[in-house]
Amino acid sequence: MKTHVLKKTLAFAGAAALAVLLAGCEAPPQESTQNGPAGTGMVQVKSPEREAAKRTSVVIPEAQPEADAGGQKASEVYQNVKVLGHLSEGQFIRVMAAVSEWLYPEQGCAGCHNLENLAEDSVYTKVVARRMFQMTQTINSKWAPHVGETGVTCYTCHRGAPVPANIWFKAPESDTPPYMGAKNGQNAPVKSVAYSTLPNEPFSALLVQKGAIRVQGTTAIPPRGDRMESGLPIQDAEATYGLMIHMSESLGVNCGFCHNTRAFGSWQESPPQRVTAWHGIQLVRDLNTTYLEPLQPVYPANRLGEAGDAPKAYCATCHAGQNKPLNGVSMFKDYKVELSPAKAN
Ligand code: HEC
Ligand code: HEC
Ligand code: HEC
Ligand code: HEC
Repeated sequence: MKTHVLKKTLAFAGAAALAVLLAGCEAPPQESTQNGPAGTGMVQVKSPEREAAKRTSVVIPEAQPEADAGGQKASEVYQNVKVLGHLSEGQFIRVMAAVSEWLYPEQGCAGCHNLENLAEDSVYTKVVARRMFQMTQTINSKWAPHVGETGVTCYTCHRGAPVPANIWFKAPESDTPPYMGAKNGQNAPVKSVAYSTLPNEPFSALLVQKGAIRVQGTTAIPPRGDRMESGLPIQDAEATYGLMIHMSESLGVNCGFCHNTRAFGSWQESPPQRVTAWHGIQLVRDLNTTYLEPLQPVYPANRLGEAGDAPKAYCATCHAGQNKPLNGVSMFKDYKVELSPAKAN
């Protein structure tokens, strides 16, 4: 009799504990939006709670007060201006104040200048910043097919810090030859490819060089010849998936945001976002090859990667987990003159 009661009590306690446990596991409500034909899995499932947290974690600084567009040009007033000479003196100082706030909220002007002599190029960050001005102007003009009217400012990437939170370096060369089991960067989980067993650094091949972002063959049977001749070595497929995972992670979306997953290669069946993403890939290649890699000799050793290369950008550098960086807000609209190339003004 006693054991019977005990058993019952235990069973009850067990059930209660399970209920508590399951209540703790209950999935928070999710929101889904369909972005393709029904039944194709082209649905974005998002947690409203997490999305709200992402939005509120974005801090957007207020624009500096308008500057006087008249008067002397910066090139006439200052000694050593190579990029911003077309601005009025007022606009020049306005953008200096803005970049101080966007990168060096504590150090201010000293982040890039020897305060004894503002014309001097002795601080490396000033030399980098000059190139960054040109890079930002290029993004806002040449790369309008990607960034649209929204554009970018230094803050899109820097967000209050001299080094953006999301940058990448080349993986150091492995000294294991392929026939001895070189891992091709696999089984070394990293966040940029969502801890998958894909190559952990597909970016040198696809976001600096113009490697083929391809998986699918275009013929029923692969063409004869060696791997390279056929144009689709298995490594291309692995790197493609690594990059695709990075793109999804960076934008906080799944594959269905850009693809009808029944035919990844088909442009006709893809939503328009895939075309925007294609321009994004070309944009990132341009930033890395034209601007960021060539800055290597300017940086001190502690800023370089293990392979001795300069820090580089990818989708996450601007997007930081959102399909439109900075909640889709355009800070550029307040700095059109300062952050567009001279000829556009
Ligand atoms: C993020 C780096 C950065 C910060 C921070 C910065 N500057 Fe500059 N500054 C530059 C660059 C780059 C140039 C050169 C621009 C060019 O070549 O067109 C420059 C040039 C100047 C010049 C022209 C000097 C000359 O005679 O050639 C002045 C004046 C100046 N800055 C003032 C300021 C002031 C004032 C602050 C703080 C409110 C500031 N800067 C903060 C990067 C910076
Ligand atoms: C597309 C993203 C992007 C934009 C836009 C951008 N930067 Fe950068 N910036 C980078 C990356 C990546 C680095 C390399 C990080 C490092 O130095 O380790 C960098 C480095 C720098 C550095 C050197 C910091 C250091 O301590 O080594 C300065 C200064 C700088 N940027 C200034 C600017 C200014 C000024 C603007 C706007 C005119 C700007 N950047 C716009 C991506 C960007
Ligand atoms: C933000 C948009 C975007 C997202 C998200 C995305 N892709 Fe892609 N994907 C592209 C673009 C753009 C290309 C074509 C690149 C090119 O042609 O250079 C592509 C190409 C591909 C290809 C190669 C197709 C071929 O022709 O061989 C495959 C496979 C692929 N993606 C798979 C995926 C998978 C799997 C995911 C999710 C993990 C994903 N993609 C997420 C934009 C995206
Ligand atoms: C220099 C900053 C920058 C980089 C780097 C960048 N993007 Fe973007 N991207 C933007 C901006 C800004 C927008 C918003 C444009 C607009 O409002 O029309 C955007 C928009 C998009 C959109 C459209 C989103 C939507 O909801 O319609 C896609 C897709 C996209 N980017 C994919 C990518 C991919 C993939 C990469 C990396 C290969 C990338 N981006 C790299 C700045 C960037």
